[in-house]
Amino acid sequence: MDRSAKDRREIIDGLLQVPARIAPKYFYDVRGSALFEEITRLAEYYPTRTEAAVMQVHGADILQKVGAGGTVIEFGAGSCEKARGLCRQLRPQRFVAVDISAEFLHGAVERMRGEFPGLEVLPLVADLSGVVELPAGLPREKRLLFYPGSSIGNFDPPHALALLTRFRRLIDADGALLIGIDLVKDIAVLEAAYDDAAGVTAEFNLNVLDHLNRLIGSDFEPAGWRHVAFYNAAASRIEMHLEALAATWVNWPGGQRQFTAGERIHTENSYKYRRADFFELLARAGFSRCDAWTDPRDWFAVVLARP
Ligand SMILES: C[S@@+](CC[C@H](N)C(=O)[O-])C[C@H]1O[C@@H](n2cnc3c(N)ncnc32)[C@H](O)[C@@H]1O
Repeated sequence: MDRSAKDRREIIDGLLQVPARIAPKYFYDVRGSALFEEITRLAEYYPTRTEAAVMQVHGADILQKVGAGGTVIEFGAGSCEKARGLCRQLRPQRFVAVDISAEFLHGAVERMRGEFPGLEVLPLVADLSGVVELPAGLPREKRLLFYPGSSIGNFDPPHALALLTRFRRLIDADGALLIGIDLVKDIAVLEAAYDDAAGVTAEFNLNVLDHLNRLIGSDFEPAGWRHVAFYNAAASRIEMHLEALAATWVNWPGGQRQFTAGERIHTENSYKYRRADFFELLARAGFSRCDAWTDPRDWFAVVLARP
């Protein structure tokens, strides 16, 4: 099945579930990627600036543990903003930027090439929820997998374990995974980060409906839905949903679904971890040597995991 047929099947299956769900990877068309960049600059959205500060403060430590050179492979690279700092510090020979948002990725890669003339920069459009085939001939030695932004939080624990296990298979004993995780903290801080006063996160969430309309030919009216975000303490995750303002039918070629007023579509989970629990997950995935650095408030951790 080609990518678009597979997406179509997956999206329709999700819309027909009760409750309906849309995988967060569908947030990222060009507009979604640009809105995410806007989110990273919001006062309420602490993860990006906290993670960047941790990496800057502890950059020398990270360099000392992983060494310079080799290949950096960033997953969910987006604008490649965090890779810039890392590449300045580690001076790798090549950088592979993996993302599902094709057009946005190609723009980001062009900017990286302009900024780092000696660096070989390879874009790879791929979906991390499946097996990622790295470019043929990519050297195996000294690979540093980079997965920042607490993107691992979009996967529930069994799928996070499966993804970490796939990461482990991509590296040898001299490789490592540098990964950002958002830590459990005060609920008000967490909820504000996913429901900002300016409404950018709401726009980001609602944009998925326009993206779906293009992907499957559905007739969602985004104005008929509202953004809902809250912390589910029992599951240790932020949940984002879209809630129907009134009863409505949504149609697509070959199918339809009715939503009652107040019915929700679950669009994202963002799991928050306790360091010990995440270390245990890493150990189960085959990473036995782990180091972590955090900010003074202990809000966000950058973890270096080695086999
Ligand atoms: C939360 S953003 C993080 C961006 C950037 N790494 C950062 O830390 O700011 C998630 C990124 O992962 C990409 N992404 C989301 N789901 C994906 C998937 N299933 N496969 C590949 N990339 C994905 C998005 O396009 C987006 O660029």
